Amino acid sequence: MYTVGQEEIDALSRVVRTGALFRYGVGKECDTFEARYAKYLGIKHFALAASGSNALVAAMIGLGLGPGDEVLIPAHTYMATATSVLAVGAIPVIVDIDESLTIDPKAVEAAIRPHTKAVVPVHMWGAACDMAAIMDIAKRHNLLVIEDACQGVGGGYEGKKFGTIGHAGCFSFNYFKNMTCGEGGGVSVNDDTVAERARCAIDPCHFYWHGRNEAEKPFAGNGARPSELMGAMLNVQLDRIDGMIAAMRAEKRAILAGTASLDNLGLRATPMNSANYDCSTQVMFTLPSADAASRFVEIFPSVIAGKTGRHNYTEWDQVLMGAGAAHPLMNPYLMPANAECRRTYSKDMCQRSLDILNRTVMVPMSPHHSPADIDDIIHNIGAAARVAFAGLSREDAALRNLKPVDAQKFDMPAGA
Ligand SMILES: Cc1ncc(COP(=O)(O)O)c(C=O)c1O
Repeated sequence: MYTVGQEEIDALSRVVRTGALFRYGVGKECDTFEARYAKYLGIKHFALAASGSNALVAAMIGLGLGPGDEVLIPAHTYMATATSVLAVGAIPVIVDIDESLTIDPKAVEAAIRPHTKAVVPVHMWGAACDMAAIMDIAKRHNLLVIEDACQGVGGGYEGKKFGTIGHAGCFSFNYFKNMTCGEGGGVSVNDDTVAERARCAIDPCHFYWHGRNEAEKPFAGNGARPSELMGAMLNVQLDRIDGMIAAMRAEKRAILAGTASLDNLGLRATPMNSANYDCSTQVMFTLPSADAASRFVEIFPSVIAGKTGRHNYTEWDQVLMGAGAAHPLMNPYLMPANAECRRTYSKDMCQRSLDILNRTVMVPMSPHHSPADIDDIIHNIGAAARVAFAGLSREDAALRNLKPVDAQKFDMPAGA
């Protein structure tokens, strides 16, 4: 969340005053947002849902994934990427990330087995996955690609918006995301049938309101319908997103330029798959060791990617424990159809990812940073690098106006 203000209050009170809180037949906000966001993305369909988790499940149901299917997911993402695979009865197979902090295409290709049906590239921290390589692998191995763009609202890959490159895309509009209505999400897709199935997964009764689609029979599912309050808020947020992303891209460029010379101290900019198009919600640096990263963040308020407490596969308790559902007969790990899928995990299975994560440092960008703030950040990164790696004393470093890390940006409790 970057800005929530009078425009949102006005939009919400307009909806409350009219009493038009339900999306079908009563209000227009969700319909309007879906049409506007689809146009913004450059995709045929966008279906709003109650959350990004619901959106992932709806996209996977839409694409027909289920028991007997393995889905490749990265070792670093929010656990919903994994649990959504389990929610459709399939098995998540965890593969390494590379230094970009996104799924490593080489690891994807190496992990493909006869039951592998799909891959979920996650545009983690708003940074782009290597979509050219992933789409190439998917084409050669007949895999479905579901882009988890929950952290990638407003960003893209080489001129295309996230969520429009694979077979489906998923977004989150929860409190922590670039565009927010408190909680929310949605599915982007070009294919009419997949869209219809995703809408049925989001609201199994949607045909009451939309009319029956004789080509696609409805099926049972759990409800995740959005409210008009969400739609109203998102319509306001959509007006702001491009300006905010542009400001963060400019800040990232300035910081990368201002810190480039620190490379020789060991502070190396993290490789990016689409530097000019991603969300630029953070500048990342890949340090030589975990120890170097710890020393740096002690001085400069920033976050070690591996230490957020919830985004590494080692922290996904239900997945590691094989607790794939509440009822044992619905637990994909115990389903006969999944007997030939890889169903075991260990905490050290993606050691390379953990090593990268523990030496990658994230510096948060903000559309609210002034030129003076950006100047201070550049100065302080340099000073912190000299203190951490070149023996400069803290007093001589003359750190300026150090502000606490924006913990909200990393889904971390304040003060973490
Ligand atoms: C990468 C990723 N995937 C999925 C989700 C799930 O989204 P939601 O919290 O809206 O259910 C999130 C949310 O934090 C996320 O960051």
